[in-house]
Amino acid sequence: MGLLSILPFVRSVIEDHVTPGGIAVDATVGNGHDTLFLAQLVGEEGTVYGFDIQEEALEITRRRLEEANVQERVRLFHENHARMADVLPASAHRQVQAVMFNLGYRPGGDKSIVTRSASTLEALEAAVDWLRPGGVLTAVLYSGHEEGKEEAQSVIAWGKQLDQKMYHVLWYQFINQKNSPPTVLAIEKR
Ligand SMILES: C[S@@+](CC[C@H](N)C(=O)[O-])C[C@H]1O[C@@H](n2cnc3c(N)ncnc32)[C@H](O)[C@@H]1O
Repeated sequence: MGLLSILPFVRSVIEDHVTPGGIAVDATVGNGHDTLFLAQLVGEEGTVYGFDIQEEALEITRRRLEEANVQERVRLFHENHARMADVLPASAHRQVQAVMFNLGYRPGGDKSIVTRSASTLEALEAAVDWLRPGGVLTAVLYSGHEEGKEEAQSVIAWGKQLDQKMYHVLWYQFINQKNSPPTVLAIEKR
């Protein structure tokens, strides 16, 4: 197998950690590609919780999920992902198999609506707490725009200070590509 590019790498990490009947979270629903991917992995008995601050993103995603007939296993919240811990049902606490973040703006949408460091860090902090042991978090980071660069740096700094006794943390990136390609932070709870 060749080296996986960024999005296939993320999907392979997620596939290794999500099983039928499981619980997963899409912290940045956007156009719903990752939500659908998670919904297919958890199967009919599983649950996916999704967050986005844009109603339009949730509408697009609802249609995508309905077309695939997986809408029953997904709950979408029109909420800031920083509120994750207030919104998720208590029964999911430390039961979540995977949380996906795909930072930045929604492709095809309003580019001024982007994830922001402060709320992203709050959401990451909540997300690792809600993971079950053996669960995984992935965050795709974009440094191509000014806010994204600052956000990516703060996310990596946050990842570096996580206790190694509790988390495996890796940063996956191609280091010889021009135009600041995205990179991935992946965290596995031990
Ligand atoms: C890069 S897109 C996500 C792409 C998506 N995963 C997909 O498969 O299409 C980032 C999304 O994060 C959303 N977003 C930005 N800030 C947010 C926040 N604080 N809480 C939740 N969603 C947020 C944006 O509205 C946007 O739709």
